[in-house]
Parts: sequence; C-alpha cells; structure tokens
Amino acid sequence: MYTQGLDQQPDDPSGPADDELAERFQARIDAEGRIEPKDWMPEGYRRTLIRQIAQHAHSEVVGMLPEGNWITRAPTLRRKAVLLAKVQDEGGHGMYLYSAAETLGVSRAEMIEQLLSGKAKYSSIFNYPALTWADMGAIGWLVDGAAIMNQIPLCRCSYGPYARAMVRVCKEESFHQRQGFEIMLTLCRGTSAQKNLAQDALNRWWWPVVMMFGPSDRDSIHSDQNMRWKIKRFSNDELRQKFIDATVPQAEFLGLSIPDPALRLDPASGHYHYGEPDWNEFREVIKGNGPCNRDRLAVRRKAHEDGRWVRDAAQAYANKRRAPATGQAA
Ligand SMILES: [Fe+2]
Ligand SMILES: [Fe+2]
Repeated sequence: MYTQGLDQQPDDPSGPADDELAERFQARIDAEGRIEPKDWMPEGYRRTLIRQIAQHAHSEVVGMLPEGNWITRAPTLRRKAVLLAKVQDEGGHGMYLYSAAETLGVSRAEMIEQLLSGKAKYSSIFNYPALTWADMGAIGWLVDGAAIMNQIPLCRCSYGPYARAMVRVCKEESFHQRQGFEIMLTLCRGTSAQKNLAQDALNRWWWPVVMMFGPSDRDSIHSDQNMRWKIKRFSNDELRQKFIDATVPQAEFLGLSIPDPALRLDPASGHYHYGEPDWNEFREVIKGNGPCNRDRLAVRRKAHEDGRWVRDAAQAYANKRRAPATGQAA
C-alpha cells in the first residue's frame, strides 16, 4: 500500500543548508538522477522520506492482519497456499521498507515503537474488518489494485533505496491483485449465493478503497514540495481517477455493480465521473476511530511481545559471535 492516502507534509526544506549543495541536489533530481544514502540531502527531504517509508512499512505489516485471519478458513488447499504466500509477501514488503528507511538514519526499533505506541500512522484501509471469504477477493482485487496505482510511480522515486525496493514489491502486488480478482471471478460464476457474497464485499470495500488515495488535491496543500523532490509524481485525484477508470470495466466483466449512484462514463474525457467519498469517515479512521484500529494495534503489540524471546536470542547470538574468542587451545 499504501502511502499516498496519508499525504506527507514536507518538513521545512530551508535551513542552514549549503546553497550550492542544495542546488546540486535539486539539479540531480531534475535530471532524473537518484539520491543515495550517503549523498547530501536537505533535512526536510530526509525526514519526509523517513515518515513516508515508515508509514508504508507499517501499512504492509498491519495489512497482513485482515487476510491473516482467513488463512485457516480458506475453502480449499489451493486457496490456502495462495493466500499464505500473499500474506507472507506483505510481511516481506514491510521488511524491505524498514531496511530502506534505516538507510536514512532511523532504527527499525524506533519505527516499530512508533507504530505500537499509536504515534505512527498506517493506511486507513486496514482498519476495516474482513467479514467473509469474498473479502479476500475484494481486498486483493481492490486494495492491492489501488496499492499498485500508488506504488508504480514510486519505482521512479528520487530516493534510490526506496525506488529499488518498489520494483520487486510492485511485481508481487500484481500477483496479489490477480489472485483477488480470480477469487471474485470464481464467486461470480458460482451460485447466486456466492455472487451475492462477492457483491456484498464490493459494497463494503469500494468507498474505503476510493479513500485510500487520500483527500482531494483541492484540500491538500502539502504536495508541491514532494512533487519537486520527486517523492510524489501524481496527485491524489489523478491516481484515484486512474484506479476508477481501470476498475469499473473489471466490475462490469464480473457482472457486479459499483455502489456509487454518481458513477458514469464521461464520453468527452473518457474518464469516469464518481461521487464524493465520506471524508469525515476517513478522518475518523485516520484518527484511530475506525472499526478495527484498536484491535489491529492490540494484535501487533501482542505479536511483538510474543516475539521478544526470538529477538533476545538473536541478539545474544550476535553478541557471542562478536565477542573476542577466549580460552582457545594453543
Ligand atoms: Fe504489499
Ligand atoms: Fe499486496
């Protein structure tokens, strides 16, 4: 996922930085060059990226929870194997992204502490419940589909380690989207009860997914600097439009209807016109008042505590290997 919706507010890009270094930095970005960990960078650029990459990593890790709940209830062995692989991929995405953020001088322990204390944000979408098996289809098709729209441009992000991590992440997201769509297709070609399950999942997930792209650009005042730094390449509304244009024909193919009475194709522009999401709901979910926020964090905190012995053992082993060898026979 899963970053755009949280709309990073760039830190003050000015400061005591050397003007010449700043000019060279911007010239490199303008020429589509990459900024690497040891290169000079403005403090605001570094902080903005730490916040964005950490939020992205948290979203991948918390994003394992709604689907993780269904691994033991998958209807067939094949579905179980596919879902297991998908959820493991998301854990891997979190790990690459924590590593990418660490290259900017923040520790993984610090980032995880911020997630568990509730200080750091993650994508609003993962605070909604997965109520039926059809939700596994809707999440893959729509949530991962929206994530791809956000993440493809990040493969060209100016910060090298983030951009490179996104190349592999995007390949895996494409598999996630397809497995979700295939679940929906199977349900839609099944009994009417199965098709109803698919329609019900679409009804519940559509608006939260449309909101994943974040507030409208009309209300967003923070994107300009991130565009100049090439951390962000498209506005929230542009990405939302791309997603809707790509997804409506897929829903038609499935024979499902999108729960938006305002949705219609504008023949002049070739784009779909769509209704206004409930932004109050979005703000409440981001503030921690969504249907599952407390539960998601409680599960993460418990997992962190349950894993403490593994971290302690790994640390003890690393210390032992680092310690000078003593008592060796001559
Ligand atoms: Fe992912
Ligand atoms: Fe994914």
